[in-house]
Amino acid sequence: MKPPHILLIVGGGIAAYKACELIRLIRKAGMSVRCVLTDGGAQFITPMTLAALSENEVFTTLWDLKNETEMGHIQLSREADLIVVCPATADLLAKMAAGISDSLATTVLLATDTPVLAVPAMNVRMWQHAATQRNVARLRSDGVTVVDPDDGAMACGEYGPGRLPEPVAIMERIEAALGRRPIGKAGPLAGKRILITAGPTHEPIDPVRYIANRSSGRQGFAIAEAAAAMGADVQLISGPVHLPTPPGMTRIDVETAREMAAAVDATLPADIAILVAAVADWRTADAAEQKIKKTGGALPVLQLAENPDILAGLARDARRPALLVGFAAETENVIEHAQAKLARKGCDWIVANDVSGDVMGGSENAVHIVTADGVESWSNLPKDQVARKLMEKIADVIR
Ligand code: C5P
Repeated sequence: MKPPHILLIVGGGIAAYKACELIRLIRKAGMSVRCVLTDGGAQFITPMTLAALSENEVFTTLWDLKNETEMGHIQLSREADLIVVCPATADLLAKMAAGISDSLATTVLLATDTPVLAVPAMNVRMWQHAATQRNVARLRSDGVTVVDPDDGAMACGEYGPGRLPEPVAIMERIEAALGRRPIGKAGPLAGKRILITAGPTHEPIDPVRYIANRSSGRQGFAIAEAAAAMGADVQLISGPVHLPTPPGMTRIDVETAREMAAAVDATLPADIAILVAAVADWRTADAAEQKIKKTGGALPVLQLAENPDILAGLARDARRPALLVGFAAETENVIEHAQAKLARKGCDWIVANDVSGDVMGGSENAVHIVTADGVESWSNLPKDQVARKLMEKIADVIR
């Protein structure tokens, strides 16, 4: 599943500085973003600022021949799932409504059939002017989503409608324009706080070496994404993985099992906990402070110590979530081992999977849901479907 890509056109107004915060939020939601900065916009913020925040080249002029061969204005809009104009000045809105293409920004906007979200910001009188209102009405009837500006004190010292909405509110409009549910607002898990662990843990041997396992974090991240899409307040605690954060959740990155245990403790209370992480059972008893050197003499011996069992600890905790779900990766006698684990760990459900194939790091998973009431086995499914089915089952029992 390719994450959404946003083309952000930054117009020339004092609110341009808020585009910087918006870029941060877009990226935090797991999306990529590329910026076009108008001449007016460049009077307020620099291409360097946008390039650093977006980690992408910034485009400013239509007459850059190198870019017209390698990354032309058509390509800029074609690669985007959504074009966001923020801030959309009175001038940009007028040009968009009239179909004028006299700059890179306006040419991209005329040349595209990608959905456009315009977020106006301007002086109250400019916003209320009949010409601007006419342009906004025209754009809306052309299919452009024009966000209403906020009411309030303005940089020019006046008061009224014309302020750029807060970046968090703009982000919600972006999610909605992409067809994603605004996170935490609705859905069967709205108001539920869900703690999810995912990924492996790394247990250091010395500053450069560590003990790890093959967990990619994909199943845990897919579950977090499904939970957030159903309206839950998701707290995702992740070991070291190479995955973007799905939209609309809080992510805490940890490295070791003990750090994960501390993060879980700090995140409680929660209504539901789903511990998907492949936590290392052992760590080295004493990680060396300096890199262990190859001396040619006796081989180093790794002394191991047991890690805390986060799931079993949570089952005994006074703040135990109402529903506690563990995972079990087994290579043989999957169901028997899962049933034993359910009793040993004191959790409510065990989601058991056979990892004798390439499940760890792969994209599919065949799981068995083991509870006190029995076993439900699902056929082999992509990990995001396993995630959705699991969250639907959880939503059914938690109501
Ligand atoms: O004992 P085992 O590692 O097979 O148990 C797997 C389940 O226990 C998973 O839900 C995993 O997240 C959790 N676990 C844990 N802390 C550990 C080991 C496993 O929370 N130290």
